[in-house]
Amino acid sequence: MNREDFLMLNEDIVYLDNGATTLKPKEVVQSMVDYYTKHTSNIHRGEYDAAIITNQLYDGARDVVAKFINSESSEVIFTSGSTMSINMVVFGYMKKHLKRGDEVLLTKSEHASNILPWMKLSEDIGITIKFMELNEDYELTVESVLKSITERTKVISIAQVTNVVGDVRDVDAIGKICKEKKILFNVDGAQSVPHMRVDFKKSNMDFLSFSGHKMCGPSGVGVLIVKKELLDEMEPLCYGGGMNQSFEADMTYELKVGPSKFEAGTPPIAEVIGLSKAIQYLEKIGIEKIHEYEVELKKYLVKELEKIPNIILYNKNSNSGILAFNIDGVFAQDSAIYLNHFNIYVRAGNHCAKILKDNMKIKNTVRVSMYFYNNKKDIDRLIEALKKSEDIFKIVI
Ligand code: ALA
Repeated sequence: MNREDFLMLNEDIVYLDNGATTLKPKEVVQSMVDYYTKHTSNIHRGEYDAAIITNQLYDGARDVVAKFINSESSEVIFTSGSTMSINMVVFGYMKKHLKRGDEVLLTKSEHASNILPWMKLSEDIGITIKFMELNEDYELTVESVLKSITERTKVISIAQVTNVVGDVRDVDAIGKICKEKKILFNVDGAQSVPHMRVDFKKSNMDFLSFSGHKMCGPSGVGVLIVKKELLDEMEPLCYGGGMNQSFEADMTYELKVGPSKFEAGTPPIAEVIGLSKAIQYLEKIGIEKIHEYEVELKKYLVKELEKIPNIILYNKNSNSGILAFNIDGVFAQDSAIYLNHFNIYVRAGNHCAKILKDNMKIKNTVRVSMYFYNNKKDIDRLIEALKKSEDIFKIVI
């Protein structure tokens, strides 16, 4: 779909690394070029025409995000990306509200950004991290969630879609459980929000993070959505201009209320404008359609890969456009170098999910991660290259 919107696809490449970052359509790039060439200005500081245009685009972006994700605009904070968003949750909210012995439930398939901040918090204040069990497909079931909850469980923090296995967690059911049991529900939406309809309110999420660059937007911008009553109690990690109401020489100060409190300094203005355009672009295509399309494409990929005898698949059943595999006996990075020889771009390694190896019994995989602009031809090229992979060490030396 929509391949003509992506200039990079005019090159002879097969881009299958969308879990790492996505390509950017012309109109997103143009919206940022317009900012830099037609109305460069800071936000919330100027009374002149260019500043008014920029203000409208920046503030309007909050409404675009809120509508896309079904939250209130006053719950949308712009950050530098999912990693910063999750760190804000952990150190801006949880550090003040959790205490020694409180349990936080994670899984071993979480990305580093949803494990390391919690480890640091555990070091700082003594919370207990527990990993919920994954099934034989490395997926998290609702039963496993239920089994892991105790009366000390205060937080469940999970990706909605994991970045190696691509399993889609049932956030509606888990959100309902959290609401009933008064557990805070923190969702890492980095791999879900770009690909499927995510509904902050319906899924009873308390916090939701995602990144612009994984959804056709620019890098350097992300979003943190925080339920209103929690946002009022969250502390900023960064202090400075734009987030204060007043401060005096006698050491008194007053901070703004709402999202601005968390956006100190000049924010990534062009990037917020680009992200807003990216969301409008995805909505034009239809986010539900994107998910259906990727799942179909994955089925085709799995069917073709299964015909090649030396390919090991790790997550053929997960309901997303992510597939992890290895060529039997070949180091994943060598496979990626080999595929690059055919202009096929994939990611290889542990994909920042460094403890998933405890379940998978392997550290490194090759990951194909698809988006709506991929097509069967891309997959056919990958398959053709892999069929010839007995030549791999002639190419990778
Ligand atoms: N988190 C990104 C990935 O999974 C970078 O590749």
